[in-house]
Amino acid sequence: MNDLFQDQLQALRSRSLHRRLREIGSAQGAQVATVGRTLTNFSSNDYLGLANSSLLRDAATAAIAEFGIGAGASRLISGTQSPHVRLESALAKWKGTSAALCFASGYAAAVGTIPAIVQKNDVILLDKLCHASLIDGARLSGATLRVFPHNHLGKLESHLQWARREYPDARVLIVTESVFSMDGDCPPLEELIVLKKRFGALLLLDEAHAIGVVGPNGRGLAAELRVGHDIEIQMGTLSKALGVSGGYVCGSRSLIEWLVNRARSFIFTTAPPPALAAAALAAVTFLSSEEGEKRRQLLWNRIKILREALPPCPGLIPTKSDQGGGSAIHPWIVGDEQTAVEMSRALLTENFLVPAIRYPTVGKGSARLRVTVSAAHDDVQIRSLCDAMARLAT
Ligand SMILES: Cc1ncc(COP(=O)(O)O)c(C=O)c1O
Repeated sequence: MNDLFQDQLQALRSRSLHRRLREIGSAQGAQVATVGRTLTNFSSNDYLGLANSSLLRDAATAAIAEFGIGAGASRLISGTQSPHVRLESALAKWKGTSAALCFASGYAAAVGTIPAIVQKNDVILLDKLCHASLIDGARLSGATLRVFPHNHLGKLESHLQWARREYPDARVLIVTESVFSMDGDCPPLEELIVLKKRFGALLLLDEAHAIGVVGPNGRGLAAELRVGHDIEIQMGTLSKALGVSGGYVCGSRSLIEWLVNRARSFIFTTAPPPALAAAALAAVTFLSSEEGEKRRQLLWNRIKILREALPPCPGLIPTKSDQGGGSAIHPWIVGDEQTAVEMSRALLTENFLVPAIRYPTVGKGSARLRVTVSAAHDDVQIRSLCDAMARLAT
């Protein structure tokens, strides 16, 4: 019998869009072990180096001793164990909201929350560079979806006018991110909030790559700009700077109660292992502390070193937001998919792990290398990568 998928796989290969899994035989960190070699890792979202920290390991180990491994059932059936409850109150306190709800992943948070908030006769206005989880959540909701060009407030305003004219009674939800995952830049959030208020829209802000990185104690862009009270749905993930896994939504008590009753990716899945919630709680507690803030400052010191040492190449943009901020994500946009793959391979031969990001993660023809820096990197590792990138550029 013919293998049904061989032709489709071949078509991906011929367009340099085929992907393979790479086995990593170690914990996450500034260095990782692959089969037979050690790579310096500039591919991870473990921005604070917490994923393999004793802080999180100890919290998880203690929780395993007390609560075991599996949660047994969904949260509504039998799985709301104390670590989940403690984590949610800590998240709400940290983000300055009345309540919080955790999901098994950031992806699950998006695809559960958006359809719970808007339905068929509503409207979603989504930034063009939003993450796949937000796009999937928007599609799943059945609401009318309009995409506005990346960070383009003029287009967003005309979409809002259109929505209010065509759907006067609809709920209108604007969806954007604090730090865009493949570009590393930020939205003009304050201006966007002015618009959203003018048109009576709701705002969902995904802080996935800002949490732990941006704002006082890593509380995100909303906290940095002191606009949290103007954002109805503050979403994020525990899987990046917090070093664990899981997603969350912070907001009003009624929003959270509604999600408990309506978010299908929350209701119809087994609760995450309680040990993960305990580890995430340790990460949030750490970030709220002076020591955590020092770690975040260390990350910014590393980001500064990288920015200053990056070679001056077209497409290699040290990302900065309108507010002058930026992030730990630095894309080198080369366009062609094959070129990006070859550049990633060339860096691999020098023992640097830097992923080639291609369609459908980014648009066709905007393939890139995505360099992420962490507080766990040292000066020498960062400068060596920049030297290798400079060699690649010549
Ligand atoms: C902006 C954004 N939102 C959501 C997610 C999904 O988060 P998770 O990896 O926890 O499912 C990601 C992760 O890749 C992301 O980049």
